[in-house]
Amino acid sequence: MTVTEATTTLLEDLAAVRRRTLDLVAHLDVADLERQIAPIMSPLVWDLGHIAAYEDLWLVHRHADADLLRPDLAALYDAFETPRAVRGDLEILDYTNALAYMSAVRARTEDALLSHGVDPVIHEMVLQHELQHTETMRQAMMIAGLLPPGEPSLRALPDAHRDDWLRVPAGTYALGAPDDRFSYDNERPLHDVDLPGFQISQRPVTNGTWMRFVEGGGYVRREWWSAEGWAWKEEYDITHHASVTDGHPDAPACHISWFEAEAMARWRGARLPTEAEWEKAADRLDGVGLVWEWTASQFRGYPGFSAHPYREYSEVFFGDKYRVLRGGSWATHPRVATRTFRNWDLPERRQIFAGVRLVRDLDHPEHEAS
Ligand code: AVJ
Ligand code: FE
Repeated sequence: MTVTEATTTLLEDLAAVRRRTLDLVAHLDVADLERQIAPIMSPLVWDLGHIAAYEDLWLVHRHADADLLRPDLAALYDAFETPRAVRGDLEILDYTNALAYMSAVRARTEDALLSHGVDPVIHEMVLQHELQHTETMRQAMMIAGLLPPGEPSLRALPDAHRDDWLRVPAGTYALGAPDDRFSYDNERPLHDVDLPGFQISQRPVTNGTWMRFVEGGGYVRREWWSAEGWAWKEEYDITHHASVTDGHPDAPACHISWFEAEAMARWRGARLPTEAEWEKAADRLDGVGLVWEWTASQFRGYPGFSAHPYREYSEVFFGDKYRVLRGGSWATHPRVATRTFRNWDLPERRQIFAGVRLVRDLDHPEHEAS
């Protein structure tokens, strides 16, 4: 049979993504790979097994109609049947066996690809799934102080001291992903949104600015916080932000929770962008892709949403609990971090590489002249 160019490219891409995953953990002791670093994070070796199980499910079982390689592992590596908090107590594959499972699945994937061809949606989804999990793994590695040399690669922003606001006049914006490239179900359908004018900060909030918020009573004064945010802060006795204090003053603030982001915005006489505002301005903003940027928006389906190819990718998270993050972080591969990509997490979470960009209404008094 002839091997198409699409097949060759995909085989190369799958191999490159896999090398990148294995390189990330190459410097770690087996004990660190196999232990549960934090209750909200999986053992790193769980991510490895899960990456392989997901690939076997979609690229072999569903795409080529073959049986699963290890049906006995399906539940163990299913994110819904086995929540993160209990993954450390399970008999999951150890590092050696996880590596063997990954390469056995990969051999099946290659056979299935040669016999059944490329599915542009399913293959891209599985490839991006692995890329997404390497960011989750980096979050765990950050918590444990196990990142490889050179990471986190959060550099200082040029012009960090400048307080520039980009003015975006009122107008319709087509929100979401076009049909001519891969996108997740939650980015579709593309639909028009009417947006009033707004101004958005040219750069993400820096550690230096965050320190001014702290010194100005940011964690003490009730009036900048939502009721829920204040309750969270009190319950966990949060009085400062260690990663901000330790970071370069001109680098973007990172590991900020949504609750803190929202309070900080109020301190600045601003608010968080809606996702439509963020996406409309994204092409013109500095520092996009260094830290995820919290938006004011709850994670919901766009009008006319339909789940594809499975409800558990996004639909089961829709509602008022999760908030949307946009843009991507230093740990996000560019193949994932598109302008329309929607990430989401709970408002109290601080393990994500997330920061803040601010928005003001156009008629804000302090900025009439700018
Ligand atoms: C899009 C990052 C929220 O990690 O839960 C991984 C990505 N989906 N496996 C997550 C995902 C299935 C997802 N986020
Ligand atoms: Fe997953």
